[in-house]
Amino acid sequence: MYFEKPSNDKSRSNPMQRYNNLISEWVEKHRWDLQVMSGRNQFPPRQTKLQNCPKCGKKFTENHIQQCLYYTTYQEPLHKQIAVIINGSSFSVNGFVGENDFRSIFPTLVGQRTESPIILEGEPTIEWYVGADANNFRGSLQQHKLIENGQITNWVALEKLWAFTFHQSFKGYPPDYPVILSELDTSNKKTREKMIQTMFEIFNVPALYIERQAVLALKALGKETGLIVDLGKDQCRIVPIIKGRIIEENLGVMNLGGDDVTNYLQSLLIPQINKEFWSDSYQLYSTMNDIKKKYCFIVQQPKEENLDPSIMNSPLKRVENIFLPNGDSIALFDERFLAPEVLFQPDLIECSEPPLHKMILYTIDHFEEDIKSIFYRNIILSGGSSLFPGLIERIQFELTSLYPNEHLKIVAEPDRRFLAWRGASKITPQLFKSICIQKSEYLNNGPRVYDL
Ligand SMILES: Nc1ncnc2c1ncn2[C@@H]1O[C@H](COP(=O)(O)OP(=O)(O)OP(=O)(O)O)[C@@H](O)[C@H]1O
Ligand SMILES: [Mg+2]
Repeated sequence: MYFEKPSNDKSRSNPMQRYNNLISEWVEKHRWDLQVMSGRNQFPPRQTKLQNCPKCGKKFTENHIQQCLYYTTYQEPLHKQIAVIINGSSFSVNGFVGENDFRSIFPTLVGQRTESPIILEGEPTIEWYVGADANNFRGSLQQHKLIENGQITNWVALEKLWAFTFHQSFKGYPPDYPVILSELDTSNKKTREKMIQTMFEIFNVPALYIERQAVLALKALGKETGLIVDLGKDQCRIVPIIKGRIIEENLGVMNLGGDDVTNYLQSLLIPQINKEFWSDSYQLYSTMNDIKKKYCFIVQQPKEENLDPSIMNSPLKRVENIFLPNGDSIALFDERFLAPEVLFQPDLIECSEPPLHKMILYTIDHFEEDIKSIFYRNIILSGGSSLFPGLIERIQFELTSLYPNEHLKIVAEPDRRFLAWRGASKITPQLFKSICIQKSEYLNNGPRVYDL
């Protein structure tokens, strides 16, 4: 780890100022060395007058400062804003309570440099990279996925990602921020405890509220009871919520999601794609993913023979000359609706999961009649894979053909990909205060404090 001296060094006489300048420059240049930030044990509580190093107690000198990059953000004013962190398996969305827009969105991805210490020009220079940078330098990094099939799979990388979030998205120092942290809907108690422990012990946050993403999504609509249909990257989750609580035993999970649509689209387009001229498999995947998002749609009638032939032949539905980064150009025909059809016909890709509409029905069927009818009237779409045009009509079609007498309402907000963020950002500071875990409570009760 290294940093360079700042060019404009007016504050040489003031070690604290110089320290801050060095840090700002270094961070700017290297996008924050996450190893420095979270490789150590803990963010100490803020101290107002920082004459001595909070780690070893020695007086600050220039030398000491250079070795002590860890204590970087002391110069920032004390923030009281409540920070919101939503980690999905593909993207993380972060911002502040009370604001309409989130402050940042980046891939939930962490890369670790694996190359030799000799760094060539243009190569990554620090050990850990988060988000877009983890992708940009992917050739020289070992990539760590953090969340797979609804579970956190890499805590070390998640810590780096959270450190990056505080620093890059909130531009501040974790002990200054009360935090709302989203939890995966399929998470368990152990994971929740580890999240609480990490936030209080490593990041030293003053207060924390942890809530499931589906509950936050429901809050966005001002509701406490409803059925969240969250279509994500590698899973679809049908989440029944009654009075703000997920009914865990009836939560429906399909290990089928947007990635399966992308991969199926790729396999359908194989005859048109010259596979040799791609820089790597990620480039091919992300190109297919972009094509999926731009051109795919869901047909209203499931059986191919029922399809209006104009769908395939209409110039509106046929897209020519899509130029790919490898120089090829392709045309899209029925791939546009065949690819997302896997959500309703998983056997197209030899997947044994039930079709989406059946999963919705199975989940609702577990409940008594009165709750059932509330769920039928409150089917709320959420997640990126719910954005396919035609999805609402298709779910409606499938459900009404099975239950023609049922009164159905499918809620599809335009910003449904970010519904959990919207729900979290609507929590008022007063409400937060009444539902959060305070640091003192954590210190008295430990990670199971949420259960008391
Ligand atoms: N406009 C779109 N049309 C279709 N699919 C989309 C669109 N935008 C994003 N997606 C897909 O949504 C999926 C990601 O969903 P989402 O943004 O909800 O991610 P996530 O919350 O990180 O995932 P998960 O909920 O599984 O943890 C990806 O497969 C992506 O390709
Ligand atoms: Mg999600």
